[in-house]
Amino acid sequence: MPFRWGIVGFGWVARDHMAPAIAAAAQQLVGVADPSPGARAKAEAAGLEAFGSAAELLERRPDAIYVATPNHLHLPPVAEAARAGIPVLCEKPMAATLGQAEEIAVAAEPVLYGTAFDQRHHPAHRATAREIADGAIGQVTAVRIGYACWVDPRWRPPGAENEEGNWRANPQAAGGGAVFDLALHGLDLAQLLLGEPLVRLHIELQRRVHDYPVDDGGMLSGRFASGALFGSHVAYNCPEALPRRRLEVIGDRGAIVAIDTMGQSAGGTAVLTCGRRGEQRPIAFDTGLSPFAAQAAAFADAVHGRPHDFSLSRDLTLMRLFAGAYDRAIACL
Ligand SMILES: NC(=O)c1ccc[n+]([C@@H]2O[C@H](COP(=O)([O-])OP(=O)(O)OC[C@H]3O[C@@H](n4cnc5c(N)ncnc54)[C@H](O)[C@@H]3O)[C@@H](O)[C@H]2O)c1
Repeated sequence: MPFRWGIVGFGWVARDHMAPAIAAAAQQLVGVADPSPGARAKAEAAGLEAFGSAAELLERRPDAIYVATPNHLHLPPVAEAARAGIPVLCEKPMAATLGQAEEIAVAAEPVLYGTAFDQRHHPAHRATAREIADGAIGQVTAVRIGYACWVDPRWRPPGAENEEGNWRANPQAAGGGAVFDLALHGLDLAQLLLGEPLVRLHIELQRRVHDYPVDDGGMLSGRFASGALFGSHVAYNCPEALPRRRLEVIGDRGAIVAIDTMGQSAGGTAVLTCGRRGEQRPIAFDTGLSPFAAQAAAFADAVHGRPHDFSLSRDLTLMRLFAGAYDRAIACL
């Protein structure tokens, strides 16, 4: 019997990435819940049952719920699913505020909870993590990430239903701007790659190009428990044609550079360079497996009690570190 998902919030990421991933993982989507008639019409056109509320969807008793509402609306469906005893995979960031994230942690405590950091499931990143753990680049000294896109005030998610406009530019709905939306992917990914937590984080924000009330770019620097360093530039003000997705892990015996692996789609490249002679070797991974399909399969494994690395407490700890640094940065913007 295939694993059965329900989706709450059938917007861009659910429609374009999670629903296809569920199919690719040979799982089943039993229905979606969304208050928007347009979103429900799109679901019905795809042959799905669509409900106006999460409560109706939960009555179908899916094996898990995937929550992809705007950031400030993660808490209610997570809490509702948890009350019904149904595991929840919730989109990143956990919430629009640390307070909401803390409430999610309390509400979701009785069930399996995962934040949908899809990039930790990208096969290139899993392969990179194995190389690092095997000592292929020696002692890691630094992780450097560039992750950027273009989101201007008129931008809407592809096929957007929501009449309130670009919620990503609304600080109450999104929690912040480019940094709130994009940086946590890299922070979580870096923790996966090094197998240890970040313990310090500093953020600088800018509102440089776009005229909206949230940051359109930021630079992050941090340190891991071991002393390895973290640096990341994320932005909403980076034109489409520029290189925008780059991950580098530097060690005292080599380095790994992954290009176009960060994001929602399959593929990209990862190359290991030897620190002594400069020889390069591509890192092999499944270029047809999307991070969303791998994530859907991993969450089903977790629900079935198989080994997994979803962790509510790790995600909450990261959110606390991030929110503290973000609040200090906002005060200086
Ligand atoms: N992991 C990733 O790579 C990735 C990519 C994009 C978005 N996201 C995250 O996914 C979430 C959704 O983003 P999006 O771009 O799909 O937004 P979106 O605006 O396209 O879709 C949100 C959907 O939620 C619906 N909605 C609003 N209130 C609701 C409620 N109370 N109950 C049910 N549905 C409700 C809206 O009608 C809309 O259809 C955000 O948290 C975002 O940060 C993650």
